[in-house]
Amino acid sequence: MRHVRLGRTGLEVPAVSVGTWGHSGPKRVGRHPVGWSGLDDDAARGALVTAWQRGLTHWDTADAYGSGHSERLIGELWDEVPREEIVLATKVGWEFGRSHGYEPGQMRAQMEGSLERLRTSQVDILYLHHCDFGPDDRYLESAIALIHEFRTAGHIRWVGLSDWSSAKVARYAPSVDPDVVQVYRSVLDDAYHSSGLADWVFHSSAGVCFFSPLQHGLLLGGYVSPPTFEPGDHRSRRPEFRDRALLAHLRECRHALEGRFPERPQPILSALVGAVVSDEPAACALLGMRRPEHARAAAEIDAELDPRDLEWVRKLYRSR
Ligand SMILES: NC(=O)c1ccc[n+]([C@@H]2O[C@H](COP(=O)([O-])OP(=O)(O)OC[C@H]3O[C@@H](n4cnc5c(N)ncnc54)[C@H](OP(=O)(O)O)[C@@H]3O)[C@@H](O)[C@H]2O)c1
Repeated sequence: MRHVRLGRTGLEVPAVSVGTWGHSGPKRVGRHPVGWSGLDDDAARGALVTAWQRGLTHWDTADAYGSGHSERLIGELWDEVPREEIVLATKVGWEFGRSHGYEPGQMRAQMEGSLERLRTSQVDILYLHHCDFGPDDRYLESAIALIHEFRTAGHIRWVGLSDWSSAKVARYAPSVDPDVVQVYRSVLDDAYHSSGLADWVFHSSAGVCFFSPLQHGLLLGGYVSPPTFEPGDHRSRRPEFRDRALLAHLRECRHALEGRFPERPQPILSALVGAVVSDEPAACALLGMRRPEHARAAAEIDAELDPRDLEWVRKLYRSR
């Protein structure tokens, strides 16, 4: 597995890194599903151990994933997995409590809770999980001050900034000056470049993590008909999982990739991950791995796409 240097942090992480949103289990915020159904805790822990055994040593979680459940699962593993071998990232900002997620008291409580649940004295990266800093950016300055205070106190090593929107991260990155940014990117989406974030990353020597490159499993092209998800699963509110024409197109893409890359053990995963990391030397992709077989497959990914293959893969998926 190729390793990448996460920009100015100097952290060396595998180009394929481990996401644990799926380790949260089902969850709702109000009527809004924000979790994942079908979680098996033993399989989820097994996925993490398998990932470590195969060199996937950068793990991403958040206080909000299952309101701490994902962090707890990780914290239970340090007898089996040496803590010092894992680059561990968590996030703060989506657990609102009685106030805003970046209200200072709330942020402090969440930081304390994350360290307790993760059973560690320090996380390697703490992300501000989103770029909604309240009305008139009310909590922006205090959130920046606090995250640096956490760093001075030794609770965290590096500062991260995240959002689904690259444009929002590009807007707030100059104020927050994160060491690492974490944004959504897939073969179907180029906001990372069009928003200007790629330029900011380049000039600031920041590291980058791209999340959901499989669009939560959808892009793998495995669905023959629209799936149904149990309550509390965020995929139930995503219209693309119900788009029959898209599902058929993704199955065709799958066949085309198997024909184009027959020598790669994981042609589909390699193409989807390669499509987001091949043009960005300081980037890794975060893949959700909830079962040992997910981690085994991820460890076999060969994400090196040369410019010709990269262009071919993008055209294939965008040809609809
Ligand atoms: N900062 C943020 O706001 C933010 C937002 C989203 C995600 N993230 C991070 O990025 C990580 C990855 O994103 P993601 O979990 O949305 O999605 P993803 O990597 O796009 O998709 C993960 C899902 O794809 C399926 N899958 C993965 N490997 C597979 C394989 N080898 N064979 C068949 N199916 C496979 C699994 O679905 P099943 O489990 O249903 O089989 C898995 O749960 C998250 O876990 C989280 O750490 C961060």
